Amino acid sequence: MSVGIYFATTTGKTEDVAERLHELLGGSESPKDLADLSNLSELQDLNGIICGIPTWNTGADQERSGTAWDSMLEEIGNMDLKGKKVAIFGLGDSSTYTENFCDAMEELHAFFSKSGATMVGYVNRDSYTFEESKSLIGGEFCGLPLDEDSESDLTDERLKSWAEQLKSEFPELN
Ligand SMILES: Cc1cc2nc3c(=O)[nH]c(=O)nc-3n(C[C@H](O)[C@H](O)[C@H](O)COP(=O)(O)O)c2cc1C
Repeated sequence: MSVGIYFATTTGKTEDVAERLHELLGGSESPKDLADLSNLSELQDLNGIICGIPTWNTGADQERSGTAWDSMLEEIGNMDLKGKKVAIFGLGDSSTYTENFCDAMEELHAFFSKSGATMVGYVNRDSYTFEESKSLIGGEFCGLPLDEDSESDLTDERLKSWAEQLKSEFPELN
């Protein structure tokens, strides 16, 4: 039983971040592109799941990632993932899409919560500049937002700090 990293991407930025996170964590399995996954049943074999999701669908009410995650949300919600821990990281653009910053993280969070998984990896909002994000839950981000478009100079530091947080939340990584 181990920790897997799954991502979807359109222009490759979420994949790049998934690889960087994998290196920082050491103990996780190699990141997998959701587009190459025929079904989600392998999630049942893991103790922990880390998901990377960009946001491409400004202003939409649902299916905001604009990636392969969208078609898998219902299936995730119907799985039984009790006892597993799930953490989410999201890519977005806090400058151009400041009213929908990393919105898609919230959808993954909602469907994994429905599956009974324990959600971890929440992040304080204070170091981010944006107008609105659906991914704020109880005043915190429900995962790690990253902005490779307007704040790429902050990504290393944000990733490092989140990797340390995950090491304390996923005992399997140590
Ligand atoms: C047409 C378009 C729509 C986008 N919509 C959003 C959005 O609603 N919210 C957001 O935070 N970022 C938005 N972005 C920024 C992307 O999420 C960002 O570039 C991300 O890094 C892309 O990740 P990827 O390369 O893994 O697909 C949008 C970008 C484009 C080009």
